[in-house]
Amino acid sequence: MPSRYFKSFFRVMTAGLFVFLSACGGSEAAPTPPPDQQQQEQQAPATIAKNSSYSSPIAISDDDSLIVVTNTLNGTVSLINVAGDANAKLAEIQVGEEPRSVVITPNKAFAYVTNQASGTVSVIDLATQAKVTDITVGVEPYGIALTPDASRAYVANSASNTVSIIDTASNSVVGTINIPGVQPRGVAITNNNGGTGQQFVYVTQFLSQPTASGGPGLDQGSEGKVFVLSTTDDAQIQGVITLAAHDTGFAADRTVFGGTTADPTFAYPNQLQSIVLKNGRGYLPNVAASPEGPVKFNVDTQAFLSVFDVGAKSELAGGTINLHAAVKAQTFTPKLFVANPWAIAFEHASNEGYVVSSASDVLVKITLDDNGVPTVVSLPAEGDTTRVHTIEVHKNPRGIVINNADTRAYVYNFISKDVSIVDLTASPEAELVRIQSTDLPAAGSDAAKFLAGNELFHSSRGEFDEGVSERLSNEGWQACSSCHPDGLSDGVVWAFASGPRKSIPLNGTFSPQNQTGNQRVLNYSAVFDELEDFELNIRGVSGGQGLIVLDGTTNPDPNVKAFDPPNANRVQLHVGGFGAWDAIVAWTQFRVPSPVSPYRNTDASSELGQQIAKGRELFTQANCQACHGGPKWSTPQVDYARVSPFPETIALGKAPEPPVAQLSRFLQIVGTFDPANPIEKNANNFTALGQLGFNPPSLLSISAFPPYFHNGSCPTLECVLENQVHREAGGVTGLLDDAANREALLQFLISIDIKTEPINP
Ligand code: HEC
Ligand code: HEC
Repeated sequence: MPSRYFKSFFRVMTAGLFVFLSACGGSEAAPTPPPDQQQQEQQAPATIAKNSSYSSPIAISDDDSLIVVTNTLNGTVSLINVAGDANAKLAEIQVGEEPRSVVITPNKAFAYVTNQASGTVSVIDLATQAKVTDITVGVEPYGIALTPDASRAYVANSASNTVSIIDTASNSVVGTINIPGVQPRGVAITNNNGGTGQQFVYVTQFLSQPTASGGPGLDQGSEGKVFVLSTTDDAQIQGVITLAAHDTGFAADRTVFGGTTADPTFAYPNQLQSIVLKNGRGYLPNVAASPEGPVKFNVDTQAFLSVFDVGAKSELAGGTINLHAAVKAQTFTPKLFVANPWAIAFEHASNEGYVVSSASDVLVKITLDDNGVPTVVSLPAEGDTTRVHTIEVHKNPRGIVINNADTRAYVYNFISKDVSIVDLTASPEAELVRIQSTDLPAAGSDAAKFLAGNELFHSSRGEFDEGVSERLSNEGWQACSSCHPDGLSDGVVWAFASGPRKSIPLNGTFSPQNQTGNQRVLNYSAVFDELEDFELNIRGVSGGQGLIVLDGTTNPDPNVKAFDPPNANRVQLHVGGFGAWDAIVAWTQFRVPSPVSPYRNTDASSELGQQIAKGRELFTQANCQACHGGPKWSTPQVDYARVSPFPETIALGKAPEPPVAQLSRFLQIVGTFDPANPIEKNANNFTALGQLGFNPPSLLSISAFPPYFHNGSCPTLECVLENQVHREAGGVTGLLDDAANREALLQFLISIDIKTEPINP
């Protein structure tokens, strides 16, 4: 046992904290106490948590004195002394890659941190302020929560679709539960019976899946899920709570689809990042999706707070609300919608809580009635009682905790890398101070440019060097990340102008291995070829004024089109001295994370390892690389100079398609388009683009991005391989008629991530 372990061992033993004794082992063996001492341990009052534990990037100790916060982009956690408002950073400790979630044991001895990209949980000794050990868990661990006696930690592994149970006495995994869903993410654990005996564990599924009678692309076609586990039964799932679509309170003009000028719209809960329990209810802030056309400002992504009844294991009738609807009802201007609700915390002695609006950089105050039904609180200002009570924090807040005294809220800001300390005793509540939790990159550096791009991608507002703001969407409605969380995909099939289109993850847009300019032709219909073309999305879909401006002004330049003139290097707004679009492009090119394959650590000689190797052979034999080759795992790339006049042949879709410019030479017909299918409609009720084929998508980390094909018609990769026209599109027939061959190829597809050797066309 190295000496630093001894030091902390004795320090904590003298403090009389028995939990430490059982938790000090790590990978080193702890001395087994003599039997009489074991007896004594069981009788000694255990240290029990005051509150129900929930996964969050920021945690507070039970005595209100210490904050531990993840620095996701830096691979560290910071310890901040908040006793008596000391508000001083104590230490910054290296953990693994992409730390996401942290919990503190009730005796304040240890913190447990999930590292998404490393597949580990780091254990931090809070007395010595040092990492004790890393525990290997499943692939892409995200949420973590503790049982009230801190004997166990439950970890949601989003890529392996499992929950790992860590025994904190031995710091080892003692159980793994398969979750029959997609991307388990947020975790909360009850604190029943004074925190002793059986507890229940709630695990969210990040992306919603189609209902039995529904399907992708429909406002009411999918549902959210929460899985219920028991701490006394590691074998059985105790229940599944479904969270349904609801009326958003916003009407859409659907006359082109045979509807009315004011059809009600529905949205289903999606991106179930967080879950918090209070008084027998579960609360899940989420980015709800309303994918039916028109896809645009105020009828696409919504801001739900879904609520379920813990006892009944079902959604609470009349409980779920849309925070955006409260902003709609506000007469005070300017309005600010509260995009990307990402986290929530409640006061302990009251029914008040705060939802973190991650993209709009504010907290939204809510209150619960006796039945636990939330309402948005108003902030009477200038005589206007409709004004939604929001509290400004810093850039891209993603987590919140409230101290036991209910006097302070601590908010983790992902982009500004600081903690906003909010005074809850002030009226109205206000940010008191910000504590930098890790260093920001040097001004003007590449790292600063990536961070500026990351900021713009995740913001619904934007703050520019030119002194303007609120350019990224109409009244803070949404961010790029509302459909591309962390630059990836929300799994939603949106009724876009080209037709039904699954949100494409941006991890395969540029080559992750040869980053100099190897960029895909964009979108399923090859209707764009530059990131900057998404200026049209900011303006058209999100209702913002955009970033490309007329020279010498901050007025939007009206001359923005898909191909001619080119949109890179246009006169644009700036952030931190960088062109706003230049920064978004740089971030996309160099920093979008690519999910780790659930098979990353597979032994090549194992049965699965051999299957994967056989699948790779079959991929090559079937000539899949003709369309999905190279480091992007998508063959088409911009191989021409973007100049005016535009050098490429552009096809204008065939009647009855609308005349939309497509880079037709990159399109491939693979048997996935049926113009008779009623969902193949575009935003004006014309037949969708598809007769000329589709732009082959990237297969990088493909197992993380269901459903498949442009219209989401395949829920699984098995389904993709059943399409004979597509699987033989490389010109090789018969090879994949054999189910065993398809099975091996499937395993190879699941194994593809950035560590996989590319196959060149
Ligand atoms: C309402 C949801 C939504 C929003 C908001 C959104 N996207 Fe997308 N994004 C999509 C969908 C759906 C596609 C696929 C579109 C298609 O194929 O026609 C897509 C495709 C893309 C692609 C193509 C990637 C590739 O490799 O082909 C890029 C790049 C992109 N989006 C960037 C952005 C940026 C930048 C923003 C913010 C300015 C943004 N998106 C906002 C849904 C959205
Ligand atoms: C001739 C070009 C071509 C060949 C060869 C080809 N594909 Fe594809 N592939 C496509 C196109 C185009 C799509 C998108 C179709 C759509 O969305 O409707 C696609 C989609 C996919 C998808 C779904 C991706 C997503 O994000 O939706 C997978 C997985 C896939 N292909 C795997 C393969 C495999 C495995 C092979 C070899 C057996 C193969 N493809 C051969 C063109 C091709």
